Amino acid sequence: MSPTDRTGGPAPAGGPAAGPGASGGVAPGELLLRVRGLEKSFDGTPVLRSIDLDVRRGQVVALIGPSGSGKTTVLRCLDDLETPEAGVVEVGDLRVDLGAGATRADRAALRDRSAMVFQHFHLFPHRTVLQNVTEGPLVVQRRPEREVRAEALELLRRVGLEHRADAYPHELSGGQQQRVAIVRALALRPALLLFDEPTSALDPELVGDVLDLMTELAREGWTMLVVTHELAFARDVADLVVFMDGGVVVEQGPPAQVLEHPQQERTRTFLRRLLHRPAPEGPELRP
Ligand SMILES: Nc1ncnc2c1ncn2[C@@H]1O[C@H](COP(=O)(O)OP(=O)(O)O)[C@@H](O)[C@H]1O
Ligand SMILES: [Mg+2]
Repeated sequence: MSPTDRTGGPAPAGGPAAGPGASGGVAPGELLLRVRGLEKSFDGTPVLRSIDLDVRRGQVVALIGPSGSGKTTVLRCLDDLETPEAGVVEVGDLRVDLGAGATRADRAALRDRSAMVFQHFHLFPHRTVLQNVTEGPLVVQRRPEREVRAEALELLRRVGLEHRADAYPHELSGGQQQRVAIVRALALRPALLLFDEPTSALDPELVGDVLDLMTELAREGWTMLVVTHELAFARDVADLVVFMDGGVVVEQGPPAQVLEHPQQERTRTFLRRLLHRPAPEGPELRP
């Protein structure tokens, strides 16, 4: 398939404002992302040791784990920001063997299937809000300017920022910048949204708006892989929680199981530390 043929079919009716992104060629509830044997080292030190991961279309998967466990690296490999030594990644009907013989076109196609929201927003500082949102669809996807611009404004309106379309990122609060970054990701009509601790650089009073937006996207049916320390979000919004430590998936399951009845000692230790309390009776999550 060509790199521009992301959906395996027509663009979603009504555009991304109507959600939930490209189908990736699979029906809701079917496997959208399948990762097998993902391995990555930095300077000879293994950071990912054969990660397997499954995400169904429409699912929200929360990826949790201590700092340095490899969470960011997983997302970066999926968006072609890192090159793993091994691993097969399938997104819908696209299959890329990253360890062996992935062509540039394969990798471009993989990149095009997902969009990433970063901890520190990573907006282009010298472009306006609107330019930040339209850049990818115009330059990378070569979609028509009028359509792209209208969609971008509609998405900005949706997050209450249409009136800031001509502002520069530094003129916005962190919470507004992150909402722009989410809009930028949606404008690419990806099959899969990747979030890397999207609220951890925000002042506490700005976290809620971003989590609310992510919750809305989840309800609309976007497929989301979210690295987060917001356990209440994971509990309330995620379908599946995956706990990583030391470059491996230690445990995964429904939120109630992993967060409240973890099977592995490493998971229990992590949750206790995160919640800053000795928890003989198990963790209590803040609302
Ligand atoms: N570009 C890099 N160069 C060298 N080491 C890196 C690089 N990126 C990440 N690492 C190391 O890989 C490990 C996993 O990092 P990361 O995926 O960022 O973990 P997490 O997101 O879970 O905190 C850490 O030990 C980190 O220091
Ligand atoms: Mg990280």
